[in-house]
Amino acid sequence: MSSTLSFVLGTRPEIIKLSPVIRACQRRDVSFSIVHTGQHYSEELDSVFFEQLDLPTPDYNLAVGSSSHGEQTGEMIAEIEAVLESDRPEVVIVQGDTNSVLAGTIAATKMAGIDVGHVEAGLRSFDRDMPEEINRRMADHAADYLFAPTKTSRDLLCQEGLPDEWITVTGNTIVDAVQQNVEIAHERSHILAELDLDEQFALLTAHRAENVDDRERLERLLDSVSTAAAEHDLSVIYPVHPHAEKRISEFGIEVPDIIQLVEPQDFLNFLVLEDEAEIIFTDSGGVQEESCILRTPCVTLRDSTERPETVDVGANKIVGVNLEAVVEGVREMIVREQNWENPFGDGRAADRILDTLEYE
Ligand code: UD1
Ligand code: UDP
Repeated sequence: MSSTLSFVLGTRPEIIKLSPVIRACQRRDVSFSIVHTGQHYSEELDSVFFEQLDLPTPDYNLAVGSSSHGEQTGEMIAEIEAVLESDRPEVVIVQGDTNSVLAGTIAATKMAGIDVGHVEAGLRSFDRDMPEEINRRMADHAADYLFAPTKTSRDLLCQEGLPDEWITVTGNTIVDAVQQNVEIAHERSHILAELDLDEQFALLTAHRAENVDDRERLERLLDSVSTAAAEHDLSVIYPVHPHAEKRISEFGIEVPDIIQLVEPQDFLNFLVLEDEAEIIFTDSGGVQEESCILRTPCVTLRDSTERPETVDVGANKIVGVNLEAVVEGVREMIVREQNWENPFGDGRAADRILDTLEYE
């Protein structure tokens, strides 16, 4: 039997950020299928989130796994097309900027009778060396429904010539996900005790290709973070993404003692760490948003961001990985009054997405 909607997803942030939309479908009795590309497959990046967020097991798992961009994306396109041929949804929903998003969009957009809805449309870092920037531009220009999280992202889409009537400003579904989980996280998670965190600490995530695939840059990043944290007597908790873990071990990098490497955390543990940290160091897109929503100051270890709203409200500073800039950024952010507005909406993004698609 064919579903009304089909969610094509493949990585940790897509699972988290689509969870509110999937829940909204369940509430409204909209039939859907979940097509998992298998881009992420390690338990701690994948099944742990389905369990914790109480999501149905994917109807299809394409088990594409890790490979080069071309091979991974190509294999996904062919396999998603085959699934959609039999599933025949009215709309395919993709979220974000990964290779799974690009593949889902390309496969679906060429099929007669299937529309594509891109959740988190209109983000731009203007750094065309990042694979994510290419993926999101391609997805936005091939999709039929553009769900922009903010007015800034809508304006960027309009500047690129995309028709205003295709665009809806919905807010970001991460606000829905944070609101739905943060209290539960504080009730259920024991991560602070497990990690013996009775002193003030900083949280670090770094996994982007431009930071971890270059040995010198990765070393500089770790040294800058450790020096900046030491100045404020903070230990650093680093839940290491397998991509970064692989590079640290391949390059034989000695991680400074002040940085404690831990396994990637489930969503509830991670929300507690974000909420309780004095400051967050990150190159993640989702973590820049969550720190802003939770009012924990953030320094972003990149040279650009596609989330300028976080900087505009005073929650985030883009510092790159150079020592002086990271140290200066932390000095500035750690004393910042944490009273900024959340620019990403009211936590009803998922409902607006289904309203726009007229699945009442
Ligand atoms: C991908 C996205 C990135 C996103 C991130 C979310 C692209 C181009 N990149 O990066 O935008 O921020 O997901 O976390 O789509 N690996 C595992 N287990 C897994 C998956 C990956 O060990 O389940 C390791 C493999 O060694 C693999 C490497 O991580 O080669 C990179 O995986 P890949 O999917 O290419 O990119 P991510 O770094 O996960
Ligand atoms: N996250 C998590 N555990 C971790 C690190 C991150 O649950 O150990 C969550 C985080 O809360 C956010 C999402 O993963 O919602 C961000 O994903 P990631 O940083 O992998 O990708 P990006 O947002 O950069 O694409």
